[in-house]
Amino acid sequence: MRILLGVGGGIAAYKAAELARALMERGATVETVMTRSAREFIQPLTFASLTGNKVITDLFASGSSDQDTLSSAIEHIRAARDNELLLVAPCTADLLAKFAHGLADDFLSTTYLAFTGKIVLAPAMNVNMWNHAAVQANLATLRARGHIIVEPEAGYLACGMTGPGRLAEPKHIAEVAVRALQQREDLSGETVLISAGPTQEPLDPVRYISNRSSGKMGYALAEAARDRGARVILVSGPVNLTAPAGVEVVRVRTALEMRDAIIGRLPEASIIIKSAAVADYHVAKVPEQKVKKTAAKVSIDLDPTPDILAECGRLKGDRILIGFAAETQNMVAEARRKMEVKNCDMVVGNLVSERGIGFESDNNAVTLVLRSGEVEQVAVAPKREIADRILDQITKLRLAAVQ
Ligand code: CTP
Repeated sequence: MRILLGVGGGIAAYKAAELARALMERGATVETVMTRSAREFIQPLTFASLTGNKVITDLFASGSSDQDTLSSAIEHIRAARDNELLLVAPCTADLLAKFAHGLADDFLSTTYLAFTGKIVLAPAMNVNMWNHAAVQANLATLRARGHIIVEPEAGYLACGMTGPGRLAEPKHIAEVAVRALQQREDLSGETVLISAGPTQEPLDPVRYISNRSSGKMGYALAEAARDRGARVILVSGPVNLTAPAGVEVVRVRTALEMRDAIIGRLPEASIIIKSAAVADYHVAKVPEQKVKKTAAKVSIDLDPTPDILAECGRLKGDRILIGFAAETQNMVAEARRKMEVKNCDMVVGNLVSERGIGFESDNNAVTLVLRSGEVEQVAVAPKREIADRILDQITKLRLAAVQ
């Protein structure tokens, strides 16, 4: 990932140093270009030390030779060509206006015009400036041009006023930029049906059996599939998560409700990913009244729930079907067995005993077991990254199926 970081002049310019670091932590190579007014707030040396790259500051540097002058004059073309994404933060009202109208009177605005890659702008300014019709019109023009605008946050501003205008958090801006670069449209035209979270099986009107699934893996898959151009239907058990925007969510509670939702939506799907931790047993006839305490021992009679994945396996046709296998031992062998029995194209094996990964965690480490016999180990990473690795394999399966 090669990112050209444009730093505008504003009180938030110092945060661009933190942003450069956050980009590098995410594996990007960063080259910095500073406007003249940015240099009033922060020294180029800060960025040079952080990024290990020369900082570009002037359109026409006064070189010691004609050759120097020429190379600095075409520097903006080189910087535009060598980078995949232009990220401007803080992006001032002045820069927004220059970009919107195509003015090119300094290095950054000239580079903008020469740049053909993705563009992310993170504005920061006084709240009244932000709300001004001229600024909003420029933003509308830039959005319509396909640029990503990282909205400023509301809060106390350096000018003493309160409202939207404060530069978004550097980590958030870095995340948006990296995502924009990683975005592929390789799932466009696909409808991905995903199940996520636990199920709850009532024992009586106030009690239920459930499990530790947080739903984070399934939600990360839904977000990743959406970002890669798919239409996404997310059938979710009870979880404490906000559904990704643009994803259709069907909320269910029990294994039976999840079964009906999945089988009902299966005809629309071209890819099915069953990441939900479905309860294997339930009380078939739930008492209508709360079960009262007695001194005696109790035992609960449980019936098996329908195996939704196995049913999908029988109905799948040429759909791609992905199952999950949460195991405490013999993971690959168990994943293989489930793949055969449930007619899946791939099973994502999860070893649940390791600390800090798997259930409830933001991280996961999985083993992808494919029908072809191939096994891919995916080391510990944020669930969103794991989701993309799973989708990478699915796109390969899709390509193999059409050949
Ligand atoms: N699954 C399902 N319906 C069930 C139980 C499981 O669709 N009633 C799906 C899960 O969504 C997952 C896969 O089956 O994709 C494997 O779930 P898991 O609980 O690991 O396996 P089980 O088949 O239930 O076997 P066991 O609990 O014995 O390991």
